[in-house]
Amino acid sequence: MNANEITILGIESSCDDTSAAIIRDGVILSNVVANQKVHEEYGGVVPELASRAHQQNIIPVVDLAIKNAGINRNEISAVAFTRGPGLLGSLLVGTSFAKGFSLAAGIPLIDVNHLQGHVLALFIKEKEVPFNPPNFPFLCLLVSGGNSQIILVRDYLKMEVIGQTIDDAAGEAFDKCAKVMGLPYPGGPHVDRLAKDGDPLKFEFTRPRIQGFDYSFSGLKTNFLYFLRDRLKENENFIEENLNDLCASIQYTIIEILLNKLKRAVKETGIKEITIAGGVSANSGLRNALKVNAEKYRWNLIIPKFEYTMDNAAMIAITGYYKYLNKEFIGQNVVPFARTKL
Ligand code: KG4
Repeated sequence: MNANEITILGIESSCDDTSAAIIRDGVILSNVVANQKVHEEYGGVVPELASRAHQQNIIPVVDLAIKNAGINRNEISAVAFTRGPGLLGSLLVGTSFAKGFSLAAGIPLIDVNHLQGHVLALFIKEKEVPFNPPNFPFLCLLVSGGNSQIILVRDYLKMEVIGQTIDDAAGEAFDKCAKVMGLPYPGGPHVDRLAKDGDPLKFEFTRPRIQGFDYSFSGLKTNFLYFLRDRLKENENFIEENLNDLCASIQYTIIEILLNKLKRAVKETGIKEITIAGGVSANSGLRNALKVNAEKYRWNLIIPKFEYTMDNAAMIAITGYYKYLNKEFIGQNVVPFARTKL
């Protein structure tokens, strides 16, 4: 190891994935993610079960990340962890572990905002893979199970939320609509798959009328629920007989809502450098719609690698790296925040 190299251990435990990653000078050396299957039978994440699973997973996951990176523990320059937003019990596990690791190794501790991590995932370099980061300033559509935001990113650590959901996130809309159709949790990927063989214009659902660049998805969810309830009264097999069209139509509506505000943000800010982040950015319909718009309106669209769009510690480590360069460290008295802004 070169004495000037900066090696960051990143820890992510904000929801139901326990993850650890090693990044050296911005280049990924390892990224280990342990998913929690325990929530599947409940149709959503159970906070108490999530924090228990994090406790079981955290040591083996960190150990594996260090092994996979092929480094020695004493080569780590700092430990970066997700401070929030997220589930408090889950965050406490990662935070406590990171504090202990930093104290034992005598290295700095860096707190990371999970949302900032999602955005900076675009700057993760991979060995021998061409690096194609966005240029500042850029707009990032951050869509996940807990967030739907449009972020104006001026620099690595300078970003501003210019629009966000006032109720449910886009991922919640996918998951809740999937749940009422009887699909397993998380429903987003199932809707995506089934939508491929459906007609997106078969059924029409309500669009919210919200000011500015903000989003709302709770009305759509209710509309979908009542629509199904009424149709099921007429035909008890309505869902099975129309599953593909239902998935295609609800997906089409969610994408339209997301893109209308993004297009407005591009128009008003004049920024045509566009990126996406968060679990919902895996949606194939959303990716296609973004590509079509990018071609039509001449946007420079940058879509991150799939594994860095979901919750992962590589994005926390890369944010930790930029904070390390700025010497933005935090003391041992740090506590996690369930709710926090960018
Ligand atoms: O960022 P993420 O991994 O973590 C949380 O914020 O919890 O996002 C998870 C969300 C879930 O709502 C999931 O249904 C959604 O991302 N998701 C998708 C797809 N893949 C994951 N939604 C639609 N289409 C997909 N292909």
